[in-house]
Amino acid sequence: MSSVPFYDPARSYLENFERGPFGEFAEATRNFDSNVPRHRFLGQPVRTPFGVPAGPLINGKYVRAALDMGFDLPVYKTVRTRKYACHPWPNVLAVKVDGDLATGRTLVANEDYSEPLSITNSFGVPSFDPEFWQRDMAEAAAYAGPGQVVVGSFQGTLEENGSAAAYVADFVLGARLVKETGVNVMEVNLSCPNEGTANLLCFDKNRSRQVVEGIKDEIGDVPLVIKMAYYEDDDRLREFLREVGGAVDGISAINTISAEIRDAKGNQALPGEGRLRSGVCGSAVKWAGVAMTSRLARLRGELGLKFAIVGVGGVGDAGAFDEYRRAGADAVMSATSAMWNARLAQEIKEQAHEL
Ligand SMILES: Cc1cc2nc3c(=O)[nH]c(=O)nc-3n(C[C@H](O)[C@H](O)[C@H](O)COP(=O)(O)O)c2cc1C
Repeated sequence: MSSVPFYDPARSYLENFERGPFGEFAEATRNFDSNVPRHRFLGQPVRTPFGVPAGPLINGKYVRAALDMGFDLPVYKTVRTRKYACHPWPNVLAVKVDGDLATGRTLVANEDYSEPLSITNSFGVPSFDPEFWQRDMAEAAAYAGPGQVVVGSFQGTLEENGSAAAYVADFVLGARLVKETGVNVMEVNLSCPNEGTANLLCFDKNRSRQVVEGIKDEIGDVPLVIKMAYYEDDDRLREFLREVGGAVDGISAINTISAEIRDAKGNQALPGEGRLRSGVCGSAVKWAGVAMTSRLARLRGELGLKFAIVGVGGVGDAGAFDEYRRAGADAVMSATSAMWNARLAQEIKEQAHEL
């Protein structure tokens, strides 16, 4: 594992944005393998159904480096319809977890990014103005080689005292702005843990359906993936899929799992209001990503639905990629491990059995 992460937790978000990516991503050069793509993802030819989910690829420079390093399905980090500030630094800390992370835990954070690696990330989904990101996303999407697909992620913004209709309309506006960039696949984040709402959007099946239907009306044939959180309850997941599963082309899961994050002295580790709880990702959430993938695959069959499944959470080696594929994932993605291991896509291409 390379010691220099491509996104450096010791620096601010803006410094990473302007000066990154770091480590091997900084030296990546255009290098497309000449094998004919063997897979298809949402109608597009794809060389390896493996990529980086929404998050660590914070702008076009990061997306281009990921493409150069063989991540054939990179997602451009979630954008909004207007400029939006990032939470104060730090935005990434290591967390110590013994084994699997159950929901509702308290964890101790530090800066020891050693294996098995789990982290908390807390950015609040910052965004630049569409004037900046539309051009940047369009250029990143155009850079993809044969068998590579750049996915554009977005979400709506909930205004204080704003109406539900305005919230839905902002998702639809985001969809239009992302579509204008020419990306071939779009992803809407329904599982943002930092939106300030008690509940994630993906736990509200009626509102999720309104959002998805509004977006589909706007974007027509462009494939739409929804990003979901871990669902504990099978019946509730079935109900959600009955309501929304027929309207989407893909489901990406999971997002982070929320936990209380304290420092070694027991104080809140991430400064600021609303940041005692924060999303955890990396090796400790792999169990939940794999479980969610197999449940989505089973319920897809049971309900006669067709959406593609993107398995996310704790993928750090070819064995984990295989595990997700056997659980039913059509594509697999890694955020935390990929940040510290620029060669993860190459390792998977060389070592995975379920390609
Ligand atoms: C630095 C970082 C930033 C993230 N930002 C987003 C985001 O903007 N939108 C989103 O849908 N998920 C975001 N995520 C969540 C990831 O897409 C993914 O669901 C989660 O990290 C689990 O995968 P992992 O265990 O491989 O990290 C972020 C994750 C990380 C590590």
